[in-house]
Amino acid sequence: MALLHLSYVSTLAEDASLADLVRDLESFRSRNLSLGITGCIAFEGRRIMQVLEGPTERVQALYETIARDPRHHDVIQIERKTISRVSFGHWGMIRRPIADVLFLSQLS
Ligand SMILES: Cc1cc2nc3c(=O)[nH]c(=O)nc-3n(C[C@H](O)[C@H](O)[C@H](O)COP(=O)(O)O)c2cc1C
Repeated sequence: MALLHLSYVSTLAEDASLADLVRDLESFRSRNLSLGITGCIAFEGRRIMQVLEGPTERVQALYETIARDPRHHDVIQIERKTISRVSFGHWGMIRRPIADVLFLSQLS
C-alpha cells in the first residue's frame, strides 16, 4: 500500500480558539487511527505545523478537509513524499513542540 507523508504550516484564525482546537485533538486522534493515519502537530503562538502520514488517498483527503477548515488560514504544504513506513507508530495525532515536529518530519 502506498504511504504518504505530508506536512504543512498554517496560521490560527483570529476568531479561533487554540484551547478549543487542543481539546479537539482527542477526537482527531481517534478519527485518524480509524483511518490508519498518524502524525503530530505543534502550536507556537498562532502558527501551526502538522505532519500527517498514512495511506495516500486518505491522507490527501484529510489534508484537503483540514486545509478548508476556517479555524486556520494561509495553509502552506511544505512536504509531500511517498514513504515506505510511517514514523509515528500508533500515535493518531500527538502534540509536540515545533522543534520536535520539524525533527520528526525529517526522519521519514
Ligand atoms: C489545525 C487543524 C488540524 C486538524 N487536524 C485534524 C486531524 O488530524 N484529523 C481530523 O480528523 N481532523 C482534523 N482537523 C479537523 C478537520 O478540519 C475537520 O473539521 C474534521 O476532520 C471534520 O471534518 P468533516 O466535518 O468533514 O467530517 C483539524 C483542523 C485544524 C484546524
